[in-house]
Amino acid sequence: MGCCFMFGKKAKQAVEGDEDLHSVKVFSYNDLRKATQDFSDANKIGEGGFGSVFRGVLKDGTLVAVKVLSATSRQGVREFLTELTAISDIKHANLVTLIGCCAEGSHRILVYNYLENNSLAQTLLGSRYSNIRFNWRARVKIAVGIACGLAFLHEEIRPHIIHRDIKASNILLDKDLTPKISDFGLARLLPPNATHVSTRVAGTLGYLAPEYAIRGQVTKKSDIYSYGVLLLEIVSGRCNTNTRLPSEDQFLLERTWALYEEGRLEDIIDIDIGDDLDVDEACRFMKIGLLCTQDAMARRPSMTNVVRMLSGEKRINVDQITRPAMITDFADLKISNKEQRPGETRSPTTTPTTKSFTTTEPFSSSETPTQSSM
Ligand SMILES: Nc1ncnc2c1ncn2[C@@H]1O[C@H](COP(=O)(O)OP(=O)(O)OP(=O)(O)O)[C@@H](O)[C@H]1O
Ligand SMILES: [Mg+2]
Repeated sequence: MGCCFMFGKKAKQAVEGDEDLHSVKVFSYNDLRKATQDFSDANKIGEGGFGSVFRGVLKDGTLVAVKVLSATSRQGVREFLTELTAISDIKHANLVTLIGCCAEGSHRILVYNYLENNSLAQTLLGSRYSNIRFNWRARVKIAVGIACGLAFLHEEIRPHIIHRDIKASNILLDKDLTPKISDFGLARLLPPNATHVSTRVAGTLGYLAPEYAIRGQVTKKSDIYSYGVLLLEIVSGRCNTNTRLPSEDQFLLERTWALYEEGRLEDIIDIDIGDDLDVDEACRFMKIGLLCTQDAMARRPSMTNVVRMLSGEKRINVDQITRPAMITDFADLKISNKEQRPGETRSPTTTPTTKSFTTTEPFSSSETPTQSSM
């Protein structure tokens, strides 16, 4: 039998008699070893908080991304497959498709549809050369697509899913530049109280809503904050944080707010967009970004309303736009390169400044019924 659709021995034992679990395709470790040429460095396409990602080719020629999880060994095969069944049932044009998994011995591996055009972090925002040109129509499609995918996770499926890690590296692009949100639904694969979200990577912190960064409070509204930051990145072509720029320019959100107050929002639009730029629409998108990043969670619109505002179907109430919650409000977080997780309390010896992660309540979700996720 081919490498797909085959249950590994242990997995098979674990799921026997449980009809609900049969929708997850289970690959043997050997199948995935062959698909990735023994998880070779040449096939490694990235490394994130969950582990390493490899490009692979299945026996039937299907291109896949193979994500080898590092922090999940404590989870049993049955629990792992149960969680994956829930994720694999979630299908949407703007979500990465989970093809299957491997749960042999201590291996916990996810197999995804391979996306040809990498992530927004590497293409639109990456410092390395990318030959993709993002004109205005492409950016509209990306911004709207991500919003639709997130609205689907937040509002259409039951239980709802909070992504918890919306950022440019988790937005993958297919050959037509259709955006696909990756890494949703993975939080429950991690051991209790663990998170893979780390502030190690400069910029990641800039996506975090303050209530998430400081108190570990996860809600749909913290995802919406992250989406707002991402939207500003898409329009400006700039990373949320760039410490090589002059200090007034380092934080995209801060800069956008300053320009909004001066009535010069168009100054931050990416000059590389090209002839099809629609300045009014771009400014509208940035106002939506500012609305999504409001300090008061109640002011941030739902993702469904974000979709409607992006399309112009719903008017933006500019009275609701006040100074957003900004990374510089807890600016000391940017200076340490010591790996740290939101919700952790930092030792005074590593951080001389005072505003910091001060509470220890980790990653509670205040909205139910909701499956918190990554
Ligand atoms: N389905 C996929 N198709 C193509 N490339 C992928 C796919 N999934 C992941 N990648 C690549 O692997 C890289 C690493 O992904 P991974 O999700 O492990 O880390 P990350 O997104 O950078 O960080 P985080 O762990 O915080 O999500 C991505 O940036 C992307 O370039
Ligand atoms: Mg990712």
